[in-house]
Amino acid sequence: MSMSMVEIEKALKSLRLSGVRATLETRIVESQARDLSFLDTFSLVLQDELDRRKSRLLERRHQLSGLPERTSLEEMDWGYNPKLPKRECFELNTLKFVAEGANPILIGPPGTGKSHVAKAIAYSAIRMGFFAVYVEADELLAALTRPQDPVARKRLIKPVLEADLLVLDDLFLARKLSVDSADELQALLHKRYKRGLSTIVTSNRPIADWGKYLGDTALVSTILDRLMHRSRLLEFKGRSYRLKEAALRLAEGRDSG
Ligand SMILES: Nc1ncnc2c1ncn2[C@@H]1O[C@H](COP(=O)(O)OP(=O)(O)O)[C@@H](O)[C@H]1O
Ligand SMILES: [Mg+2]
Repeated sequence: MSMSMVEIEKALKSLRLSGVRATLETRIVESQARDLSFLDTFSLVLQDELDRRKSRLLERRHQLSGLPERTSLEEMDWGYNPKLPKRECFELNTLKFVAEGANPILIGPPGTGKSHVAKAIAYSAIRMGFFAVYVEADELLAALTRPQDPVARKRLIKPVLEADLLVLDDLFLARKLSVDSADELQALLHKRYKRGLSTIVTSNRPIADWGKYLGDTALVSTILDRLMHRSRLLEFKGRSYRLKEAALRLAEGRDSG
């Protein structure tokens, strides 16, 4: 005894097979029109469910990552700053470094694309099934040093501790870190290091100056050791793309005005 469409709908709903539900009617028509075997039709229907679940999972991981946008390396205008480490960026984008627990450090002046590249790599990681988290370093450190109850703190720190890939964007934006911030940073990097988890750090500040911004000397060497061991330094050299965008806007303003 076959079920009616209404009954099938109901069954799919209770089984939470939303991918099948979404395409079933089209698949029935297709199967009849193309005279497909049961197995061929069934495979298509199963694939619909798998596709739906995969895109939902990706969507969910993207939401949890804190990534503000979906960026890619392909969108970069690599000709604008020909000295950018393009090959190394694409190499990072294969995510091999995540398996190795390596820490890419992207250094260079503002507007040269460090954040763009770091976000793009994090998004690739998510698409490959990794758990990636993006945070602005100052925001994270401010949140971690704010007085808060243990539950809220745990909720905050768990993802940054456990992510397969953490992006700490714009470290040392606010020049010198407070002692508490430096402590939090050192604890975080130490724990991630012990677990063999990768962290991408971007900064406008040359590494030679990092000691200055970290303050306390005993801590400095531990933080730097944790980060530098298994690190990959990528230098972003060139002009700010923001200036180009600003110049374009100005030019457009003049044209229309
Ligand atoms: N070479 C480039 N091609 C295209 N867009 C770029 C390039 N470099 C930077 N941008 C864009 O310019 C803006 C500033 O770049 P960003 O990655 O934030 O720089 P940084 O983090 O180095 O200060 C972003 O919107 C980014 O997408
Ligand atoms: Mg940036």
